[in-house]
Amino acid sequence: MMRPLEAREPAPTTIEDARFAHESEEEFAGILDFYNVRWEYEPRTFPLQLEDDGRIVEAFSPDFYLPDLGLYVELTTLKQGLVTEKNRKIRRLRELYPDVQIKLLYKRDYLSLLAKYGVGGLNEVDAMAVREVLISASEIERRVSALGAEITRDLAGREPLLIGVLKGVTCFMADLMRHVALPLSVDFMAISSYEGDRSGAVRIVQDLTENIRGRDVVIVEDIVDTGMTLNHLVRQMKLREPASLRVCTLLDKRARRLIDVPLDYVGFEVPDEFVVGYGLDYQQRFRNLPFIATLRSEALQTVAAGAATPER
Ligand code: IMP
Ligand code: MG
Repeated sequence: MMRPLEAREPAPTTIEDARFAHESEEEFAGILDFYNVRWEYEPRTFPLQLEDDGRIVEAFSPDFYLPDLGLYVELTTLKQGLVTEKNRKIRRLRELYPDVQIKLLYKRDYLSLLAKYGVGGLNEVDAMAVREVLISASEIERRVSALGAEITRDLAGREPLLIGVLKGVTCFMADLMRHVALPLSVDFMAISSYEGDRSGAVRIVQDLTENIRGRDVVIVEDIVDTGMTLNHLVRQMKLREPASLRVCTLLDKRARRLIDVPLDYVGFEVPDEFVVGYGLDYQQRFRNLPFIATLRSEALQTVAAGAATPER
């Protein structure tokens, strides 16, 4: 039985620590970091052929191991000679170690690989504007599923009405409701805030279609920032006499709170920075990013130059 050999030193897991053999490896590590996918650089060597005395005469050390995906990755160029040799070794490795997942990647394959693991939907223009991914697509998925389970438990035996606040809530609502295992209905409302209105008054521009009287209502929000919007909404909804009223927000920017509104379910707390993605916009853009990210200051300026008033 052949076993892989662990590297003598713990394998590097950051760009600073790794001494990459090729520029393309550093670029790939950068992409993985960008998407919050953990990696180890050349952590293991797989013996491929042994002499009778046990001496290793052929071995293969894949460039990367991605522990979250359980996948080894070997990067390659288009040089045919090299590809043929690598393919032969990888075939041999798969024969000897059938449990090992390994993929030979050409540069053009990077993005399609990552797309498979839930970071699709990203285009180059928007990718350039992103400063940092704060919450990855898979972290969101896990958390939203947990929130759905909590709501399911708390409202067991009832038929809740989930009320989403457009437009930022679209992704969150779509995912959340599929994790609430109860007979439920969904409704939406849109509200608008006026720039320069120092009272921070909000106006309902699109009202509910459902009557909420006597219903078990859960208000679903993308982000609670100052709390002005939510405070207004909660007060409006209470006037309509629901049986119960809960609030579920994906993000809580607690540091900026002016009005303390009780939150029953919170996905993540975020720092006092403007965030986009997974439904949240900056002047209507970036809603389709599959993760929550901050933007580069240049991006905030360029987009601002093309739009007059911020909208929610
Ligand atoms: P609040 O009334 O200050 O709590 O603001 C809530 C609304 O402002 C949210 O529903 C969002 O539409 C918007 N908002 C606040 N912070 C952010 C952010 O960081 N990114 C995107 N939208 C935000
Ligand atoms: Mg908005």
